Amino acid sequence: MSPRIQLLPPQLVSQIAAGEVVERPASVAKELVENALDAGARQVEVEAEQGGVKLLRVRDDGCGIGRDELLLALARHATSKVASLEDLERVASMGFRGEALPSIASVARLELVSRAVEAPQAWCIEPPAQQPAPAAHPVGTRVTVRDLFYNTPARRKFLRSERTELAHIDTLVRRLALARMEVAFRLSHNGRDLLQVRPAEERAEQERRLAALLGPAFLEQALYLEQEAGGLRLTGWVARPVFARAQADMQHFYVNRRMVRDRLVSHAIRQAFADVLYHGRHPAYVLFLELDPRLVDVNVHPSKHEVRFREGRMVHDFLFRTLERALALPKAGTAGPPASAPSAATVPWPLPL
Ligand SMILES: Nc1ncnc2c1ncn2[C@@H]1O[C@H](COP(=O)(O)OP(=O)(O)O)[C@@H](O)[C@H]1O
Ligand SMILES: [Mg+2]
Repeated sequence: MSPRIQLLPPQLVSQIAAGEVVERPASVAKELVENALDAGARQVEVEAEQGGVKLLRVRDDGCGIGRDELLLALARHATSKVASLEDLERVASMGFRGEALPSIASVARLELVSRAVEAPQAWCIEPPAQQPAPAAHPVGTRVTVRDLFYNTPARRKFLRSERTELAHIDTLVRRLALARMEVAFRLSHNGRDLLQVRPAEERAEQERRLAALLGPAFLEQALYLEQEAGGLRLTGWVARPVFARAQADMQHFYVNRRMVRDRLVSHAIRQAFADVLYHGRHPAYVLFLELDPRLVDVNVHPSKHEVRFREGRMVHDFLFRTLERALALPKAGTAGPPASAPSAATVPWPLPL
């Protein structure tokens, strides 16, 4: 007899989806902070308890969610960010799958409180309740996630120590804070403040923020660069080869402000450093690539860490040539400016490509 085929219950479907995006507390933080950024927040606060397993809360001052849409925000495949294939192909928001909130709600206890701009008050929804209840909150959103994986013990076993989970959250918040210099971020753990950065507009402010997020040593050896060609724009900071590291732990690359880990990108950067770096050392950088969103596919994996460039070859060459020239300029590769230098050395741009 052939096996009976049946539709999975919705809760299980969400738990399966959660398997792809909710690996640990830091992944919950990523989804919630990205939602806050998509909502236009200028201030994002992340609060964690016990490595984010007991509690992870993200509060923002973004556009909020109206009472009538609160329940929908927790439904699968419900999103305000795309409505058609056309939208998807040029998506600029961090989210678009409409799966994060329902996935998180299927593996933890979630409470969503929000007040939309112009709404007279805030509303709260806490599954399994189906009706919003009145709440007190300024314009913006607060999502609280408690007891991660309480109902999926097999997943819970993969969690590491409180310290390790916190380290992942800390790294994640720093990575997002690097990409959104115009947004204030705050991170606390067990009631203690760990990180607080203010919005940074001018380059000098941005570099102070960079030093706060990555440490002053990086900045002392950093070259600032800015290059544009053929619809591609690369800006950011790359450390001189003397700052090369034993681990690949200071490599921050963003495509249209989304952090990505991409083989083509890493390859181009490694190649640019090939002649100036000792074998086994890793370059350090914070780089932002901007291009028409239609030329890059972010819908490769649910976690959205991978991207696919339509003109991969062109992107590779642009990155390689821009970085290689920056590193080959006189003085690059030698000792950096004195520790008290106010800002990173500037490479004269634009360079003829
Ligand atoms: N912090 C927030 N501020 C405003 N709206 C939010 C926030 N978080 C979630 N939402 C709303 O809930 C919807 C569902 O969120 P989510 O499940 O993360 O899916 P996605 O981000 O892919 O759209 C979003 O499209 C958005 O409309
Ligand atoms: Mg989202």
